[in-house]
Amino acid sequence: MAIRHLLTLNDLTDKELLDILDFADRIKKNPGQYATVLKDKTLLMIFAKPSLRTRLSFEVGMTQMGGHGIYYDLSTSPMGKKESIADTARTAARYVDIVMARLFGHEDIEEYAKYSNVPVINALTNFAHPCQIIADLQTIREKKKKLGGLKLAYCGDGNNNITHSLIEGCTKVGIDISVACPRGKEVEPHDAVLGIGKKNAVRNKCKLVVTHDAGEAVKGADIVYTDSWMSYHLPKEKESERIAVLTPYQVNAELMKCAKPDAIFMNCLPAMRGYEQTVDVIDGPQSIVFDQAENRLHAQKAIMLFLLGKR
Ligand code: CP
Ligand code: NVA
Repeated sequence: MAIRHLLTLNDLTDKELLDILDFADRIKKNPGQYATVLKDKTLLMIFAKPSLRTRLSFEVGMTQMGGHGIYYDLSTSPMGKKESIADTARTAARYVDIVMARLFGHEDIEEYAKYSNVPVINALTNFAHPCQIIADLQTIREKKKKLGGLKLAYCGDGNNNITHSLIEGCTKVGIDISVACPRGKEVEPHDAVLGIGKKNAVRNKCKLVVTHDAGEAVKGADIVYTDSWMSYHLPKEKESERIAVLTPYQVNAELMKCAKPDAIFMNCLPAMRGYEQTVDVIDGPQSIVFDQAENRLHAQKAIMLFLLGKR
């Protein structure tokens, strides 16, 4: 069987994505059933950027399934300096059963996967964060009891890993998605992702809209989602310029009023209160951000088992 990788959500068919969500639900309901499924298996966890949720949920996930996770900080590695990505991937595959990597350039994880004889999971690149959105879709379905027919509004930085994976993920499961972001290449979604999203949307009879009006995006939404204005890879000197252009897209109580009264608020975290959302929104009754964070654990277990052929 060919090795499967998860670099973007479009590496999965629509059905495979839904199957992983069902699997994540089953694992969440009955974690004990999977306590030894990865006995003697090792996950290599490569990190070029910081993490709380991704690191903990993958490592705990491996432990709870009887396997082991190795945290590997790229600052202590020869990869990209004395050793090529290709040689690293070929060597690591002689020791470990599965790899997850949090890198900067998406082309680097593509290069890694090209040379890896074991499955590779994208644990966030500047371009995509598929694991987060799988957990998010699981969370949305738990709260709303369905996926197809919902409307998700994303407000903020559009040229962003979360935005890109949300566009792919929502359009694969039939959720209408409206992205509200400022004008400009630095903050609008990547054309390639919009192309994929449009094709998915036609197939699944849902809508993909990009607008520069936050109120229009949020109007009638079931889910309002935002993400950091200063993603890990952005330099500190960009901060004031980004705050200026992104402030009109802040999710605050006024904006939440445009959504449905029972709308939920989501942020993948880490969050900056007073920036991409106000305190009252993220700490208010509509916020489900910690349920989202919890589901990273269950979703990641499902992703690893799926890629290891243990479905
Ligand atoms: N949401 C998420 O991926 O968080 P971390 O950066 O803490 O892993
Ligand atoms: N867009 C954010 C997501 C963090 C999980 C970043 O890249 O920092």
